[in-house]
Amino acid sequence: MQKDIIIGSDHAGYDLKGKIIQYIESKGLDIQDAGTYSKDSCDYPVIAKNVANKIAQNEYKRGILICGTGIGMSIAANKVKGIRAAVVSDTCSAKMSRLHNNSNIICMGERIVGEELAKDIIDIWLNTEFLAGRHEKRVNMIEVD
Ligand code: RB5
Repeated sequence: MQKDIIIGSDHAGYDLKGKIIQYIESKGLDIQDAGTYSKDSCDYPVIAKNVANKIAQNEYKRGILICGTGIGMSIAANKVKGIRAAVVSDTCSAKMSRLHNNSNIICMGERIVGEELAKDIIDIWLNTEFLAGRHEKRVNMIEVD
C-alpha cells in the first residue's frame, strides 16, 4: 500500500527536518525519515535521489526535501522521471505548486525558511489538490528522457 509522506535532508536541513517530522506526526499522519540521521556533513544529491525514486515508484505519495536553501535538493530530485519538485519559501508558491504544477515534492531551505513558516507551507501544500483541467496537459508535457 502506498504510504503518505517521506522526508529527507542533508546536514544543513537536519534540524528543520526533525521539527517537520514532529509537526506532521502531531497531526496523526505517517512520515518516513529517509535521513540524514546526524549533522555530519553529507551529500544532498544522494538523499534527493533516494526520496525521488521512492515517489516515482509510487511507494510514497509525497516527499519533502530540506537542505540549506532547498535549491540543490530540487535540482537533484527533478532529474528523476515523474518528479515535480518545487523549491518554495512562501505559502502562495506552495499552494500554486499544487494547484497548477501538481508538485509531488516540496523543497525548503533551513537557512531561508523559519520553523513556523515551514509548518504553514507544509499545511497548505498537503491540503491543496491539483486543479487538473488545462494544467494537466501542461504538466504532462514536462518529461525527463
Ligand atoms: C550545504 O552546505 C549546502 O550546499 C546544501 O545544503 C544546499 O543548500 C545545496 O543546495
